[in-house]
Amino acid sequence: MCGIIGYIGNKTLTPLLITGLKRMEYRGYDSAGLSIFQEGAIKTYKKKGRVADLEAITNEVESTSNVGIAHTRWATHGFPNDINAHPHNTANNTISLVHNGIIENYASIKQKLIQEGYQFISDTDTEVLVVLIERFYNNVNDIENAVRLALNEIRGTFGIALISIYEPDKLIAARRGSPLILGIGEDEYLVASDAAAIIEHTKNVVFLNDDEMAILTKDSFITKTISNVQTNNEIHTLEIELEQIEKGGFEHFMLKEIYEQSTTITDAIRGRLLIDEGNVKLGGLRQVQDKLRNAKRIIITACGTSYNAALVGEYLIEQLAHIPVEVEYASEFRYRSPILYEDDVVFVISQSGETADTLAAVQEAKNRGTTVIGIVNVVGSSIARYTDAGIYIHAGPEIGVASTKAFTSQLTVLTLLALYLGRMKNLSIVEGIKIARELSELPKKVEEILQSTDKIEKIAKEYSSSRNYLYLGRGFNYPVALEGALKLKEISYIHAEGYPAAEMKHGPIALIDENMPVVFIAPKDEIYEKILSNVEEVRARKGKVIAIVTKNDNQMNHLADHVIEISETLPILTPILSVIPLQLLAYFTAKELKRDIDKPRNLAKSVTVE
Ligand code: G6P
Repeated sequence: MCGIIGYIGNKTLTPLLITGLKRMEYRGYDSAGLSIFQEGAIKTYKKKGRVADLEAITNEVESTSNVGIAHTRWATHGFPNDINAHPHNTANNTISLVHNGIIENYASIKQKLIQEGYQFISDTDTEVLVVLIERFYNNVNDIENAVRLALNEIRGTFGIALISIYEPDKLIAARRGSPLILGIGEDEYLVASDAAAIIEHTKNVVFLNDDEMAILTKDSFITKTISNVQTNNEIHTLEIELEQIEKGGFEHFMLKEIYEQSTTITDAIRGRLLIDEGNVKLGGLRQVQDKLRNAKRIIITACGTSYNAALVGEYLIEQLAHIPVEVEYASEFRYRSPILYEDDVVFVISQSGETADTLAAVQEAKNRGTTVIGIVNVVGSSIARYTDAGIYIHAGPEIGVASTKAFTSQLTVLTLLALYLGRMKNLSIVEGIKIARELSELPKKVEEILQSTDKIEKIAKEYSSSRNYLYLGRGFNYPVALEGALKLKEISYIHAEGYPAAEMKHGPIALIDENMPVVFIAPKDEIYEKILSNVEEVRARKGKVIAIVTKNDNQMNHLADHVIEISETLPILTPILSVIPLQLLAYFTAKELKRDIDKPRNLAKSVTVE
């Protein structure tokens, strides 16, 4: 959510900043801007629209120094327009600032500053911060101190980078709650919201902690707390390759990521599955092993797609380990004074590891002394660092805003976790071996689905003018219905609802007529017969039935208007397969409607504000 980048070094500045923004564009894409120096003065270029629009007005622009900042925005305060776009500057262009986050007390500070005679031109909270820094600078005559004093006054979250004419050879960055990474190159430093903007320059990075600032010059970097105590952060080496964040011949990142799933599921399993022992090795959980063994209850909290994965996790853990599980949206968990007992364990799931609500839920649980374990994709992200232990899902960078491969990797890891917990409890080795074997067969079965997508594309086209869609599933596939509906909404803008199939008759059935496509997730399992009755109920009301079924399902073949087959597997593993046709259905629908698939309107990949 908003991407910021700052650079100090010897490379040509404007194209470097633009490329950095493009790599982070999935974080926000309603406007973009950059500030550089020209003949000693700060020059700012900003524009409503995509980074390409900013590129069009800056491709001839040359910088006369080697320091600059840039931003791609996801609006929080004020419409997306040229004025509200970042960077924000002081009235006389002495300081220029980019910001990711929300300054909660900006209105009262703005009021005070107006009374003191300062003027504002935008509706943003960020402009208040840059003016506040100027106000302190006027007292202390030192940019670093002025930043520190201003940051001490504000409440909320920020990842910032700024340049000033006062000390033009310095780039200052700071964070609280929003991600910020320093890239440590040779004679150059970068600061960015995301590793994607850094890796083509250097793989050596420092993850800035909350309430830390960095002071960068061309040949030095210092990190300090905002209260001015120097810190010594470890330098990490990123293990991301450039090609992982490029489209590699696919039309969209989303399609590439859908097709990566047999590999990413393999990566999630690699080195963890002990097939002959019917067990799982999860190194990241070693130090919380006893806590898990004695857990009386597990709470899983997450947002968006990760929340849907958590719901599958609930079914998995309860079935295999018989530990009661509660799942809650992180945004609710954090504000509801949750009752937590000593023998509870909280799991948080997050692809980005930066979602503000999920991060706040981690803090909330930790403040109450509860053990918190992360299931995270992005290595070194805030959630990965602030949790007591964790399991990485190893899906690699996910760029498409609509999450796909992260979801199936989350489900894979949740299955590993449930098996691990089950084997700690009463799950037999025979049962364990059966699950472990089947899990290792999944990548092949994913591949099969991906080899025949024509049928799904045809169905997507046929129903692309529908105004509503209903997704129904039961048991393990109820959360898959939610995820299928979420995918379609996100990228095609068609209204879609996911429901437990049997609940349909308590409301959604009123919506069914001949124009309503209803997607049933109906693999062969113990409640298959029940779902057949739900299909009959839809047919009786002339709804159009699209069914995801196990191969060679003759019954559904006769009932449904369309069937999409997946290979047979254990019922507990079906979500990992059944969601893939739904991802493709959403993708091809959005493509038919000519939507901006990788950057759907109003959304952002990483929601670092509340
Ligand atoms: C945003 C994204 C979703 C994602 C959700 C949670 O809304 O658009 O795709 O599922 O955030 O993100 P997280 O990174 O915590 O999994």
